[in-house]
Amino acid sequence: MKKTTVSLKIFCVISLACMASSGASLAQQVDAALQKTLSASFRAEGQAGMDRLLQDEANRLCSQADASGKTVSDEDAERIRQSSFKAIAWPTDGQFFGDFKLGEKLAQDGRGKTWSDKPGSENGGNCYNCHQISKSEIAYGTLGPSLYNYGKLRGVSDVNIATAKPIIDYTWGKLWNPRAYNACSSMPRFGHNSILTQAQLKHLMSLLLDPQSPVNQ
Ligand code: HEC
Repeated sequence: MKKTTVSLKIFCVISLACMASSGASLAQQVDAALQKTLSASFRAEGQAGMDRLLQDEANRLCSQADASGKTVSDEDAERIRQSSFKAIAWPTDGQFFGDFKLGEKLAQDGRGKTWSDKPGSENGGNCYNCHQISKSEIAYGTLGPSLYNYGKLRGVSDVNIATAKPIIDYTWGKLWNPRAYNACSSMPRFGHNSILTQAQLKHLMSLLLDPQSPVNQ
């Protein structure tokens, strides 16, 4: 580990020295050196291609802000939210719900997208790695807020499920692309990045909002 850190530092010093005359700002030079080191450190295998290292605009702006110890500017944040929101695909059949039991399986399943997974096979949602889902869970991550009682706390019940439209829309949009509401969210963009299918998202919607789901007990 130590050796890698040292050689990375040496690499950066050398590349910075080489680029010093190019006129690029220090931040750009460090970024270019980092991208080069990253590309040299990975190889494509199975479905995990080198395109995984390419940042889209939102990733780039959020990473840059993070690296400089600041938050993104208000204008950038607004631009990221708006373009993310515009690209949300709403359920093509107008139905937002599936089966909460399948949703729970997905929430506890962290598999998928690795080089050893069969391309085209369904991925898990990995929600438990960042969120508490239900009371009976023994281990879960806490990077995201607890989702226990998510629907209940927002007043979604069997009686008003049809009128709970704003919270239904928000939850779908959030699962599709969290950046539509929180520009630099660290939650995966499940729909936007084709990690989960619409059918899978519907199962998760039921997990979060169905009054009978373990989330709302
Ligand atoms: C890598 C960590 C991570 C994973 C994996 C993750 N989330 Fe999140 N999630 C977050 C963070 C951080 C937040 C809070 C920041 C935000 O709102 O963007 C959040 C927020 C949310 C919210 C909004 C909560 C609110 O009160 O408004 C919902 C709903 C949610 N996540 C559902 C899920 C579901 C369902 C899954 C699995 C399919 C999942 N998340 C997977 C990190 C994660």
